[in-house]
Amino acid sequence: MNIKSIITATMALLLSTACSAGAKQETVMNKDGKALVVFFSHAGDNYAVGNIEVGNTKIVADYITELTGAAQFEIVTHKYDGMAYTPLINLAKEEASKGELPEYEGDVDLAKYDTVFIGGPVWWGTYPQVMFTFFKKHKDDLKGKTIIPFTTHEGSGLANCVEDVKKAFPGASVQKGFSIYGHEVRTEKKKVEKWIEGLGY
Ligand SMILES: Cc1cc2nc3c(=O)[nH]c(=O)nc-3n(C[C@H](O)[C@H](O)[C@H](O)COP(=O)(O)O)c2cc1C
Repeated sequence: MNIKSIITATMALLLSTACSAGAKQETVMNKDGKALVVFFSHAGDNYAVGNIEVGNTKIVADYITELTGAAQFEIVTHKYDGMAYTPLINLAKEEASKGELPEYEGDVDLAKYDTVFIGGPVWWGTYPQVMFTFFKKHKDDLKGKTIIPFTTHEGSGLANCVEDVKKAFPGASVQKGFSIYGHEVRTEKKKVEKWIEGLGY
């Protein structure tokens, strides 16, 4: 390869990288396409917020729906109903270590949507196992689509959630995620508004 062809090849590489980064951003900006919020949230006894009637992540999911006009699908299991915090964290740890996939109720047709927000609490460093049941069932349904992960947490931020979503949905364009403390969701709606605004909605 002579110097001219090396420069040409480098330019082509730089250009294609710039174009694909641009295309990725455009997908997020496709606010006219149909969006869906898929989430799991646990109401009841929880860390930092006491016994709550509506889960922290559900509050964020509702804000997203209100701000974007997205549809919603809530991943529901009754496996943890009425559990106190300590037994719940022990059960969740065991489920994660065994890779258990708890059942959830109903389902959703993802074919209708271009952008899917996926959110849940951080449980032991990633999403609750029941969300992985959803991911496994729908692993081929989000190819070429945009996924925007979000979490509520008490210190771990996004933890491994974005990486785990990328692994679960090969072929999807997984965007930078958003996280917010669970104990802040009731008073800091503006943080969610700012994030959603930044996505182009
Ligand atoms: C089983 C369990 C495990 C948790 N593990 C973590 C964790 O690893 N990191 C963290 O920051 N918060 C952890 N938390 C706190 C939750 O992520 C946080 O309270 C979240 O906002 C709960 O959301 P929800 O009300 O929608 O379920 C855990 C909570 C529970 C119940």
